[in-house]
Amino acid sequence: MPITDIAYAVYDHTDLDVAERFYTDFGLKVAYRNDAEVAFRPAFERGYCYIARKADRPGMRAIAFTASERADLEAAAEFPEASPITPIEREGGGEKVMLTSPDGLPFEIVHGITPYPAIATRAALVLNNGSVKRRHGEFQRAPLEPAAVLRLGHVALLTNDFKRNYEWMKSRLGLLPSDIMYDDDKNNPLGAFMHMGGGGEWTDHHTLALFPDAEPRVHHFSFEIEDLDAQGLGHEWLQRRGWKPVWGIGRHVYGSQIFDYWFDPAGNIVEHFTDGDLVRPGSQPGYCPMDEESLFAWGPGMRPVDFVRLAARHE
Ligand SMILES: [Fe+2]
Repeated sequence: MPITDIAYAVYDHTDLDVAERFYTDFGLKVAYRNDAEVAFRPAFERGYCYIARKADRPGMRAIAFTASERADLEAAAEFPEASPITPIEREGGGEKVMLTSPDGLPFEIVHGITPYPAIATRAALVLNNGSVKRRHGEFQRAPLEPAAVLRLGHVALLTNDFKRNYEWMKSRLGLLPSDIMYDDDKNNPLGAFMHMGGGGEWTDHHTLALFPDAEPRVHHFSFEIEDLDAQGLGHEWLQRRGWKPVWGIGRHVYGSQIFDYWFDPAGNIVEHFTDGDLVRPGSQPGYCPMDEESLFAWGPGMRPVDFVRLAARHE
């Protein structure tokens, strides 16, 4: 049952006005808003990718992935922990199956949501490298504005039972390992970066990542933006608007993304990324030690153990 995309996140927020301000500054567009929720969409031709629901307390409510065929949704409904297929009561329609992961996190597999048409965004900047000049007599003046979010790219989860959850991600979502992380012994893996088995000829190095921590929860959701200048200008924009930075700008090792992490108003971590690696579905996984060098190639200092601890805790 290989999923073909990551679809959306659903979170509860106590103040939808503040959530709308943050996610608009973060570079998403409001798809619709009603008394119960705000739905945000990316610029690419996709459905909504983030839902902020009005609630008395903050919380994580769904991690949704797309099945491109209805037959895959039907197959998902056969898993013992799965709900029946139910209609999605949101603009865009579609159907879903709900599944609870071994760690108790709420997953959804969705099918048939009508995408919003693409929104035009600025093209990637043409760079003059040291040895290759591609721009002659044209100036590099990208405007200061929110970094347009093109699509939702991945989710990172924390687990205290890696093996069980890793097997579940493989069997329920068809995810495959790109890099498997271990402490001392390769036979004792602690984490993994996983790509989509059904995502096309080339797919993101990771659509889901699993890292160890005592308390299972979401670490962050990550959204793709155009280029390094979108990263820098988007950072500047969020900073000037008074939002709280987490960590960035830097470049990861596994997946290679240029990253920038922020706290949303509910204390959840969200990431802007650009220039991530692609892998072929089913390519041989790498094995890598989970050490101080594994988190980033360059950027502000951060120990993996401290990065993990920053993730929001909700009931
Ligand atoms: Fe990430």
